[in-house]
Amino acid sequence: MRHFDFRNGEMYAEDVALSKIAAEVGTPVYVYSTATFERHYKVFSEVFSDVQALVAYSVKANSNIAVLATLAKMGCGADVVSGGELIRALSAGIPGSKIVFSGVGKTQNEMKLALDAGIRIFNVESLPELHALNDTAGSLGKKAPIAFRVNPDISAGGHEKISTGKAENKFGIAWDKAEEAYALAASLDHIDVKGVDVHIGSQIDSLDPFRRTIEKIGDLIGRLRKSGHNIQSFDIGGGLGIPYGNNEKIPPHPSEYGAMVKEATRGLDVELIFEPGRMVSGNSGVLLSKVIYAKETGTRNFLIIDAAMNDLIRPALYDAFHDIEPVKAPGADFEEKLYDVVGPVCETGDTFTKGRSLPPMSADDLLVFHTAGAYGAAQASQYNTRPLVPEVMVNGDVYEVIRERPSIEDILKTERIPDWLT
Ligand code: LLP
Repeated sequence: MRHFDFRNGEMYAEDVALSKIAAEVGTPVYVYSTATFERHYKVFSEVFSDVQALVAYSVKANSNIAVLATLAKMGCGADVVSGGELIRALSAGIPGSKIVFSGVGKTQNEMKLALDAGIRIFNVESLPELHALNDTAGSLGKKAPIAFRVNPDISAGGHEKISTGKAENKFGIAWDKAEEAYALAASLDHIDVKGVDVHIGSQIDSLDPFRRTIEKIGDLIGRLRKSGHNIQSFDIGGGLGIPYGNNEKIPPHPSEYGAMVKEATRGLDVELIFEPGRMVSGNSGVLLSKVIYAKETGTRNFLIIDAAMNDLIRPALYDAFHDIEPVKAPGADFEEKLYDVVGPVCETGDTFTKGRSLPPMSADDLLVFHTAGAYGAAQASQYNTRPLVPEVMVNGDVYEVIRERPSIEDILKTERIPDWLT
């Protein structure tokens, strides 16, 4: 069931009309559906309910604490990549025991924070990081539980800016150095080797790279155990793609992904850890925006809207496609027009789409970008001094603003004119 759908000629988020949110909160604004978050988490986690598994939602995809609290209530864990994300996860009620810490550049301050919170595991990505973690844990009189993120040198397709599992990417321990790294880790006093971790990319639309990765890591786990390492967990990362409305190939459903993973890991005798981000949050949110001007130049029809690349950067950064729909259902007889939908930012790259066929729209009409719940608000900025886009969570027939729109005064409050200029 779609929780962003038309009712009486206009689009609702669950039981709340988007026009009401636009009138009361203003636009642009991200609108999320609690029921969709819950359904996506459930669909994913239920697939693995018959094996030992932890679903650690990848906080970077949508890190609002209301989102995290919604997932925490259902038992979800968290994959974090910074001290900030760790504090978000903890403050939303996700216990340290369900938090995994990924990322190539963890600082010793962040490590200390994570050790104090008693996190489940550190996914270590280099030997310098391993030594820093050993020192930090030692200074606290603790042992740090670790997995190495190994780089399986497998190409997962998708956009090059989000591919992570190839040897040339900055991520993980090189495949042929993995066993040496484990031997070193086992010799350190404040490191407790517990598992293996991998993450090969994002918006992956085929099971094949996942399967090849799992087979490769399965062999590695066998070799590590032979050398005496007590490997208890296998973190498969995130990356499962979702439909955006233009996919050349519809990504596998979580149930197909789950069946493959269970089959490929059968007999490995490990706890599985997953770090889905987009799969949980992508279709749980829309970006709601308003047309400022419809500008016809003779050669192009521009819809200049009040959302811009600073609010949703995916089209500018990755040429990403988002399905666009008007909030008011078009009448029976209309002729679609080809529009370039653009924002007010002073860059040609501030273009959401070119020549998109849409019902005719004019100033003050509302529209939505679908599938904007992942990597939307989380990647927003204040470029052009456009206040950070607010977020709203809908739950049935009620909604709450879960991130306020800052005023310009709020923005200027953090800046100073130095003494020598005043
Ligand atoms: N685990 C790790 C270590 C990751 O780096 C990521 C995403 C995930 C899990 C979650 O991946 P997902 O399930 O969401 O595919 N901003 C880009 C996507 C960047 C992905 C970064 N890493 C976009 O908007 O497409």
